[in-house]
Amino acid sequence: MSSSLSTFVALASILFSGHAYAASSAGCGKNLPAHITAGGQSHEVNFTTVSGGSPGMKRQYWIHVPSNYNKDKPAPLIFSFHGNGGTAANQEDLSQFSNESWNPNAIAVYPLGVGKSAGQHSWEGAPYSVPGVDDVSFVEDMINSFNADYCIDTSRIYAAGKSNGGGFTGTLACSRLSAKIAAFAPVAGAFYVPGSTDDDCAPTTIPLPCPPARNPIPIIEFHGLADTTIAYAGGPRSGQCLPSIPHWIREWSKREGFGLTNRTTSLFGGNVLKYEYAEAAGILGEITHYRISGLGHDWPSVGPNPDSSTGTYLDATPLIMDFFNSYPLPN
Ligand SMILES: *[C@@H]1O[C@H](CO)[C@@H](O)[C@H](O)[C@H]1NC(C)=O
Ligand SMILES: *[C@@H]1O[C@H](CO)[C@@H](O)[C@H](O)[C@H]1NC(C)=O
Ligand SMILES: *[C@@H]1O[C@H](CO)[C@@H](O)[C@H](O)[C@H]1NC(C)=O
Repeated sequence: MSSSLSTFVALASILFSGHAYAASSAGCGKNLPAHITAGGQSHEVNFTTVSGGSPGMKRQYWIHVPSNYNKDKPAPLIFSFHGNGGTAANQEDLSQFSNESWNPNAIAVYPLGVGKSAGQHSWEGAPYSVPGVDDVSFVEDMINSFNADYCIDTSRIYAAGKSNGGGFTGTLACSRLSAKIAAFAPVAGAFYVPGSTDDDCAPTTIPLPCPPARNPIPIIEFHGLADTTIAYAGGPRSGQCLPSIPHWIREWSKREGFGLTNRTTSLFGGNVLKYEYAEAAGILGEITHYRISGLGHDWPSVGPNPDSSTGTYLDATPLIMDFFNSYPLPN
């Protein structure tokens, strides 16, 4: 490589790696909080909310700090939200964001939803959510507390989740927190339309009101065609209306100004179709959807994942990691 070319490559990698935008939080330079260690098992933390519609609530999350955590080097942060009736531990198993072969650098956080009855933990935005619980503010309070206590790259905070937890990433994307969370990865998302009913549910045309705080917002969604819990085609469920997944994803592309055109890539002999939007804007795949034949209500994984079932062709988590790494918050 000529020296001018290698200088160019070095410069380009600084400009485009995302690290150029690394924004350090106030916690940089501080030792880890008491009882938290880097590497190993995740730690349970009791947390009291301070803001929003339900302040003073006792909540919990589990946090995994990567072994290579350095209090002087800003680390990305990934939230992973469980499904309705799930737990933080079960979501950690499914999503594997504590597995350092897939996620060596980001702090992973598994918050616990509030239970309507014992064990029925859920997130805001679904028909079965516990009324009055302000989960968006819970997430905001956690972000503020992580920024204060850990060395966080505030341009690289991300949200993933399954089912109701995936739907909740959509709720976050449509909230003021889309200004703080760089990209979203719902898996088998339950995108209940707030205020909808199951009468006359029109899953391919139902309006999807959403006031995000910025534009564009990178989103990647995975969904199985054999999902009998949150059907790919949408429809009435739990007294509300679920949009079809193509409608939900297309509305995001439209909302962001990219229109309805996608580039379709056929994978695994056509069993997996990858739809990418925003090609004309020069950011192909800024909205991406994987449609997976034969997959049920599962987090796609051929690896270490209790959700594995027929129709699992790929590991979603490394694809989510690549996606997150491609999209820091613009400064
Ligand atoms: C969190 O609070 C629960 C009681 O609500 C308690 O059993 C548990 O030990 C606490 N965990 C930590 C890490 O403080
Ligand atoms: C972490 O992921 C790798 C790659 O899929 C896998 O081989 C390994 O078993 C996983 N580790 C654990 C503890 O599950
Ligand atoms: C993507 O584009 C193809 C080809 O135009 C179209 O058939 C398909 O319905 C589109 N898919 C989605 C999810 O928009």
